Amino acid sequence: MGRIYISDLENHVGEEVQLHGWLYNKRSSGKIRFLLVRDGTGIVQCVMLKTGVPENIFALYDTLTQESSLSIKGKVRKDERAPGGYELEVTDIPKIYQIAQDYPITPKEHGIEFLADRRHLWIRSSRQHAILKVRHRIIKAIRDFFDGRGFTLIDSPILTPAACEGTTTLFETEYFDLGKAYLTQSGQLYGEAAAMAFGKIYCFGPTFRAEKSKTRRHLTEFWMVEPEVAFNDLNDTMDLAEEFLEYIVQTVLRECERELKVLERDTTKLQNVKKPLPRITYDEAVEILRKNNIPFEYGNDFGGTDETVISEHFDRPVMVHHYPAAVKAFYMKRDPEKPHLALAVDVLAPEGYGEIIGGSQREDDYDTLVARIKEHNLPQEAFEWYLDLRRFGSVPHAGFGLGVERTVAWICGLEHVRETIPFPRMIYRLTP
Ligand code: 4AD
Ligand code: MG
Repeated sequence: MGRIYISDLENHVGEEVQLHGWLYNKRSSGKIRFLLVRDGTGIVQCVMLKTGVPENIFALYDTLTQESSLSIKGKVRKDERAPGGYELEVTDIPKIYQIAQDYPITPKEHGIEFLADRRHLWIRSSRQHAILKVRHRIIKAIRDFFDGRGFTLIDSPILTPAACEGTTTLFETEYFDLGKAYLTQSGQLYGEAAAMAFGKIYCFGPTFRAEKSKTRRHLTEFWMVEPEVAFNDLNDTMDLAEEFLEYIVQTVLRECERELKVLERDTTKLQNVKKPLPRITYDEAVEILRKNNIPFEYGNDFGGTDETVISEHFDRPVMVHHYPAAVKAFYMKRDPEKPHLALAVDVLAPEGYGEIIGGSQREDDYDTLVARIKEHNLPQEAFEWYLDLRRFGSVPHAGFGLGVERTVAWICGLEHVRETIPFPRMIYRLTP
């Protein structure tokens, strides 16, 4: 008899099957004992009757502790009331792999730091399991979206010679005889080179920011997907972003119904995520803050609270474009009519989840870009290769970056990004 997974029980109703897993929970009422077994694909209630198994097997119930690993045999029964819809009528427990020691995470409430210190075990819990399943589905949707539209995946390096998103959040390390190397803040500059070679590309990988802020939206290591398209302008990149967000959200709603239920996510607001998404200028966003009596100095970037107030005016993500160039990155092209404004866009998620996408049209003129590198006090030698893209067949181009963890937090309805990545890295957390 082959091993099967809990997610596949529906195809084995009436058969005797063997599962391998861990004891999630148990309860007993005299002649009938319930073992809740999980195997990574689901949880199934295994019912052991005193009359249904040999005495020595029935007695194993007492020795089995939470998270003990075992193999269990039984007949599959459809039962609407059972969690997952199926039950196992136990016939045998052929193997106990290990009797687990006192498991620290019990069904009672634990403090967040206690759980975070035990993240390697915490991910076995049903809520964390559901979040990471949604994360997986979002990542697959991201890849499917671009792969299905003729984009080529181009991996960008993690060890880089210079800053991309400002010098204040750089992680640096010694690099042999070559001086300093920096953990990448974004693959974009390499993505631009790749767009000139392949037309439409995306890079997708971990990025690093030495964020000194301790907020619910910041990690020091996070995953970002960054499409870049030759001949696209700011409007084209907004068109791409809205189609992309609709695709991700609608896919998760369709395919992660079970997980969203575990998370008790109110999905009505997610149903709205369809194009067109509203587009407003920075100035219009500032006006919203004024009307809400939020103190804000014109010309600054928006803070977390500002973003929340702005996004509350819309029933779906809002795209804010044309930011003051002074608060944005060196590579952004400026509006030819209003050169103090950058051709930039931030997409703010609803329900207070803040910026999930940052993007722009890039400066494609050689002289202007050299001037920007100087203004930002960046070392020009390190950017010579990047300037080559403006020397040899420069074209308008644009792209954006979507942060995976903030997207997961928003779609799952989570308070903090620390639960959205298997092993979070934050200013005060490097373990486990
Ligand atoms: O707005 P950012 O800094 O944009 C870039 O890095 C561009 N190079 C992207 C591009 O145009 N190719 O970051 C993009 C997104 C943010 O909107 C946010 O979702 C996420 O990355 N992000 C973070 N997520 C978690 N923790 C942090 N510290 C983050 N910093 C940015
Ligand atoms: Mg940004």
